[in-house]
Amino acid sequence: MELEDLMIIAATLLGSISLFKNLLVFIRWLHATFLRKPKNLREYGSWAVVTGPTDGIGKALAFELASKGLNLVLVGRNPNKLEATSSELRQKYVDKIQVKTVVADLAKLSGEEIEVVVTEATKGLDVGVVVNNAGVAYGPPYAKYFHEVDDESMECILRVNVNAVVWVTKGVIDGMLKRKRGAIVNIGSGSTVYVSSFPLQTLYASTKAFMAMFSKSVALEYKDQGIDIQCQVPLFTATKMTMLEKRTIFVPSAEMFSRESVRWIGYDRQCNPYWSHAVEGFVFHAFDTFTVWYLERYMKWMRKEGLEQDRHH
Ligand SMILES: NC(=O)c1ccc[n+]([C@@H]2O[C@H](COP(=O)([O-])OP(=O)(O)OC[C@H]3O[C@@H](n4cnc5c(N)ncnc54)[C@H](OP(=O)(O)O)[C@@H]3O)[C@@H](O)[C@H]2O)c1
Repeated sequence: MELEDLMIIAATLLGSISLFKNLLVFIRWLHATFLRKPKNLREYGSWAVVTGPTDGIGKALAFELASKGLNLVLVGRNPNKLEATSSELRQKYVDKIQVKTVVADLAKLSGEEIEVVVTEATKGLDVGVVVNNAGVAYGPPYAKYFHEVDDESMECILRVNVNAVVWVTKGVIDGMLKRKRGAIVNIGSGSTVYVSSFPLQTLYASTKAFMAMFSKSVALEYKDQGIDIQCQVPLFTATKMTMLEKRTIFVPSAEMFSRESVRWIGYDRQCNPYWSHAVEGFVFHAFDTFTVWYLERYMKWMRKEGLEQDRHH
């Protein structure tokens, strides 16, 4: 056989293996996204803890978990919004679930204080599901150079997006280890998983990168103890954080995202529950150089617009 023939056979073989592998990934994704049976979340325990349950994804998730029959511990910073959310939940699920509220500003408390708040609030409760959802991004003009982020915002982003996730996890893990069951869901962001850089969102994206690594690593430490830990990585969702009001095929509402989000709890260590986000993420990743180039331009435009709006107010 000629060398040329051998090279053609080798190239065909490699191409077929790669095609087969990608086909398997695609079939697995189709199954997980549209067909897989969700886990019975009550088997993890009868209570769920949600941080940042007073708006957006966290609020929608609290309702979704309540619809599965889970009692809730809601950890939020604003007592009025917490009260409003818990009374909405009680009205909707009369006599079906219990709701406890905990006022805790995750940007103000130290790590140890967060752990104490969580352990006190969950003492004696069969906590099965914990959602580290609370998160903050840059304030106006919403896209900034690193040196433009003021000290208070910097501290807030680091504390809520990183510190709180670690210490809330520490506050619940001992109980889960004793019961040998539990699920922890950390709401990360597609901004760190599908693109190699995210200029003018450096701090936000970096905290979410921490969250992804933390989740995937700690998940392996406890997978044999009945504890499923997962990082979900949504892309744009219509909430107050993004100020996107209009839903489009690629921008679901918090409710649409949350319906899918709970279907993935207990499965993959990292996942993107909403189907169009997953498609978008795949394309972003495949064309990373272009995506990052575009993001940089878009973020600079967003900063300029934000600064101009500020000037007019
Ligand atoms: N929306 C998106 O497109 C998107 C995309 C990727 C990832 N995510 C992630 O999804 C999560 C939820 O985001 P979202 O869009 O739903 O945001 P959101 O609408 O702004 O809601 C954030 C929630 O976190 C709470 N929170 C903020 N700072 C807090 C603090 N210091 N202490 C306690 N709670 C605090 C907020 O409380 P208040 O009600 O008092 O403000 C609110 O309940 C975040 O982790 C975010 O990074 C969102």
